Amino acid sequence: MAVAHQPEQRGPYLDGVELTRMRRRHLRRVLAIEARVYPRPWSPSLFLSELAQRHSRSYLVARYDGEVVGYAGMMFMAGEAHVTNIAVDPDFHGRKVGTRLLYAIITEAVARASGIISLEVRVTNHKAQEMYEKFGFSVTGTRKGYYIETNEDAFVMEVRDALSNDYRRTLQTIRNELEEAARG
Ligand SMILES: CC(C)(COP(=O)(O)OP(=O)(O)OC[C@H]1O[C@@H](n2cnc3c(N)ncnc32)[C@H](O)[C@@H]1OP(=O)(O)O)[C@@H](O)C(=O)NCCC(=O)NCCS
Repeated sequence: MAVAHQPEQRGPYLDGVELTRMRRRHLRRVLAIEARVYPRPWSPSLFLSELAQRHSRSYLVARYDGEVVGYAGMMFMAGEAHVTNIAVDPDFHGRKVGTRLLYAIITEAVARASGIISLEVRVTNHKAQEMYEKFGFSVTGTRKGYYIETNEDAFVMEVRDALSNDYRRTLQTIRNELEEAARG
């Protein structure tokens, strides 16, 4: 099931993507993407409960041509942040939408003084792991059978120096690469 119009342009970078706060009105499309990319998609009530926790959560959507094509969420704790979800409509994979979403939520985490940023990822999800590694995440642990529907293990990946100058440079490099990609 296609959930968005195919972009007319071709190329590595999808122009015209806007990032905004996730709202309830975005959920229809968010849930459609969720159903396409995960064997056990989040329920509407889980998204609603996340959105209701305004102070400790941040959810963004990426919109192209007015339609949601991706989203990402972060949970904030004292001095730490955790990526709760990130997904892009498969019709738009590989065009830097995920990178832009991750860059935006990580920048927010750093602005909120989160020194440690963590996430879980399927051990077989090499594509996502590669993206996280570009953002300086490395594997710090394994959670056995974390994904109960498939009994698959999760890697815990973390950035532990998110407030350092080194990490600021990592983010700056990603920003430069995005700007370069946008210029074509
Ligand atoms: C992971 C995901 C969000 C990436 O979104 P995306 O918009 O396709 O990602 P980008 O185009 O920004 O690519 C980011 C990096 O991911 C990696 N990547 C993307 N597509 C890839 C592919 N086909 N093969 C290998 N690596 C790939 C690359 O490292 C890429 O960086 P590069 O463009 O500099 O090569 C997307 O694949 C997705 O929605 N997957 C399903 C949901 C999911 O697995 N979420 C993560 C749960 S932990």
